[in-house]
Amino acid sequence: MALRGERFIAAAVRALRPRRHDARIGEQAARYWSASDGDGSWESNSHWRDGIGDEAFEEVGRDHWEMYQRFARALGVQTPGTVIEWGAGGGANAAAFAPRAQRFIAADISPDNLAECSRQVKAVCDTPLDIRRIDLADPDAAADGLRHACDTFLCLYVIEVTTGVDAVRTILGIAQRVLRPGGMAFVQMKYHTGDGRTRGRPGLAYTRNLALTTTFTIEEFWQLADECGLAPQLITLVPRNRLDGRYAYYALIKPDTADDPR
Ligand SMILES: C[S@@+](CC[C@H](N)C(=O)[O-])C[C@H]1O[C@@H](n2cnc3c(N)ncnc32)[C@H](O)[C@@H]1O
Repeated sequence: MALRGERFIAAAVRALRPRRHDARIGEQAARYWSASDGDGSWESNSHWRDGIGDEAFEEVGRDHWEMYQRFARALGVQTPGTVIEWGAGGGANAAAFAPRAQRFIAADISPDNLAECSRQVKAVCDTPLDIRRIDLADPDAAADGLRHACDTFLCLYVIEVTTGVDAVRTILGIAQRVLRPGGMAFVQMKYHTGDGRTRGRPGLAYTRNLALTTTFTIEEFWQLADECGLAPQLITLVPRNRLDGRYAYYALIKPDTADDPR
């Protein structure tokens, strides 16, 4: 009897451990992204103009805009329309997409990032801008009232800094919900290869890993998007650029017939 009790306790401990671990990493991520650490590295990791420099800042926006256009042309998508960027950071993509958009919605965890993104957008255009703060304890709330409201969903240099596959599933679910049928999600993730050193390490201290926290194989992410109700259509790889490497970009379309979970 005592042995059965001990086994039960051991099983309960095993079952609870990952949850506690996930919660701890989640707290570390929320704390890290919520505000600057004061030494400039946070601004660099958030891709502020002052953090990565003018040239890299312009390049991020230009490269992503050109890639988006290639996907859009191939898929017969006309214009970006209403765009939402999930994890907008310092506004490198926002400054490139907002001037071509009807409306731009910037979502991020950090109020400082949202303020900086807003400054960068206002410096280049007067496109209507909407700011949404993401609470990592309830990310869906940042998309309240946006069901079917967006033509384009951007999520760039974000998936790899999320805390794991559940967080990524949440983001793809939000994309599925806010996009109108036929709308496009332009999403990048960091892929791992057969070399174990390229794998994400969600098990280690968050701030030590950052951009190597959550990775996928090319096919895993394709399937995950599909499971989340977004049909993968096109993919482009960037094995290396000036920031880092192993980037995979997907054009995901919300099917016309999609049933929304909410
Ligand atoms: C490397 S920056 C990228 C900024 C911008 N997307 C770009 O391409 O320049 C990562 C951004 O993702 C945000 N972020 C981190 N985890 C997130 C999550 N789970 N959901 C949404 N945004 C997140 C951070 O606050 C930060 O602004």
